[in-house]
Amino acid sequence: MQNLTSNLNVLKWTDEIIALTKPSKVMWIDGSEEQLNMLREEACGTGELIKLNHEKYPGCYYHRSQKDDVARMEDKTYICTSNKDDAGPTNNWKNPEDAYKLGREIFDGSMYGRTMYIIPYSMGPMGSPFSKIGFEITDSIYVVVSMNIMTRIGKKVLDVLGDSNDFVRGLHGKCNLDIDKRYIFHFPEDNTIWSCNSAYGGNVLLGKKCFALRIASYQGLKEGWMAEHMLILGIENPKGEVKYIAAAFPSACGKTNLAMLIPPELYRKKGYKVWTVGDDIAWLRIKEDGRLWAINPEAGFFGVAPGTNNKSNPNALMATKKNAIFTNVAYNLDDDTVWWERLDNNPPENALDWQGNPWNGKKSKEKGAHPNSRFTAPAKNCPCISKEWESPEGVPISAIIFGGRRARTAPLVYQSRSWQHGVFVGSTLASETTAAASGKVGVVRRDPMAMLPFIGYNAGDYFGHWLEMGRKASNPPEIFHVNWFRTNDSGEFIWPGFGDNFRVLEWIIDRCENKSGAEEAVIGYIPRLEDINTQGLDITEDTLKDLLTIDSSSWMEDVKNIEEFYAKIGSRIPAELYNELNKLKSNLSKI
Ligand code: GDP
Ligand code: PGA
Ligand code: MN
Ligand code: MN
Repeated sequence: MQNLTSNLNVLKWTDEIIALTKPSKVMWIDGSEEQLNMLREEACGTGELIKLNHEKYPGCYYHRSQKDDVARMEDKTYICTSNKDDAGPTNNWKNPEDAYKLGREIFDGSMYGRTMYIIPYSMGPMGSPFSKIGFEITDSIYVVVSMNIMTRIGKKVLDVLGDSNDFVRGLHGKCNLDIDKRYIFHFPEDNTIWSCNSAYGGNVLLGKKCFALRIASYQGLKEGWMAEHMLILGIENPKGEVKYIAAAFPSACGKTNLAMLIPPELYRKKGYKVWTVGDDIAWLRIKEDGRLWAINPEAGFFGVAPGTNNKSNPNALMATKKNAIFTNVAYNLDDDTVWWERLDNNPPENALDWQGNPWNGKKSKEKGAHPNSRFTAPAKNCPCISKEWESPEGVPISAIIFGGRRARTAPLVYQSRSWQHGVFVGSTLASETTAAASGKVGVVRRDPMAMLPFIGYNAGDYFGHWLEMGRKASNPPEIFHVNWFRTNDSGEFIWPGFGDNFRVLEWIIDRCENKSGAEEAVIGYIPRLEDINTQGLDITEDTLKDLLTIDSSSWMEDVKNIEEFYAKIGSRIPAELYNELNKLKSNLSKI
């Protein structure tokens, strides 16, 4: 097939990869529907994809990945910098030379007998000054059709790139899906990603975590911007004014849900609305007005399926109704549709589970869908998508929110005292682990800025970069912390969450405009009981008190854990953050 570009930088690199992987055929992805359709048909022929009921799910497909390949694997993910300290103690590290050598052994001849697909893609709206271009070479049609949803692909990207050498070189090969030879290598110093022996989205859709977070965070350090694990949403008030919030929660801690939130009825009646700009990743830059402006570099949602339903997140559900791909959910054999836990109360009886075994949802005790099963859906399908979501200039951010799953310790919400204090709060973010990454679930771990698995360099330098951005921005956002996941003694959530989180967002936005009250507590500003609107909410005053209580002994415990965490990161932690830690310790010792 003919090359789609005459860019010699691109051709030199693709020739190298062709010589290494030795595919039988090479196909440039031009982004046309004809070509994509042909690939979808081919994948249906081999079973890689299954076409769903076209009346109920037009343009939708079903896919399963191998049992041991259903989540990001942090122990297989490496940052390969020439100097080990530049990757830092929170990342796995390999010397680039060794990683390339190992990669070359695995990729050598790995596409023999297979077709290689070359996908040009843009992260960010086509041609926006925020946007960046990447290529993904892959031997998987699932990857091609998923990248078509998650990013902007094809010929138009090459037109924007022209002869430039500024692009990320991504190579993915399924190889033989051998878990022992599974690696996700990042080479930030040469804009390169090599991922082998996996077919799970988070490891293989290279535009997402690998480029838009790990490589981009490194680019951001060098170029003075930020790549963050954040949703972006707009809150429209009854006057029609829209304020934007960016929020960082670890994987499977509520970003997609918050991004698409529907306000409680009392707010809807008054005319409040929430608009989605992005649900997972934000690229942030300081503009001339001294504010932080954000774009969503993605074009689709890669959302957690279980728990998504018409009550919890109708907007996400609507987004999956056409041109979506479902991975590792249950498959209803009677009508070629999909099902997952808590979709509705009517699980199919004649179905296949996420591993392809016969499954009766009414009888089986096993789960039909894997807890980290996902949908891949075009953002433009989302009923509440913001009209600014593809704005090349991005949207101005008024507030940044950090949050995680904490059964105790962290209150429902608090506000930091300053940018520096906010960076401290973000750097000490902690959350119980979830099924989004392989490993034990429910263990509290520190996950700074929800970026622990995604910081493409030394975490101490990353904190320094955050402080630097605050110094450069004359009008930076206010920084907050939330926790929707406080539990009682029986382990039940005491805050209703979901749409009612709007009540907390209202306090946050009002704080940014000095319109709502708070009391100064040892950890920052906390709303007084009367500052959170509980009208129409089934919650007792005692529960709200509980939600806003600072228990000094559990905070002291947390401080110990923070000290250990900081010690592990080591000498590159900025002194300002130790000052904040000492302030917290001294404040706690006074109560
Ligand atoms: P993301 O991976 O960060 O985008 O998280 P999701 O929005 O997909 O949510 C992950 C899980 O957390 C799902 O099972 C949701 O139902 C659940 N979740 C999201 N928001 C809330 C909330 O406000 N309260 C509670 N209790 N659960 C939530
Ligand atoms: P999530 O995205 O944050 O929506 O879970 C995938 C991931 O972080 O692995
Ligand atoms: Mn994520
Ligand atoms: Mn999500």
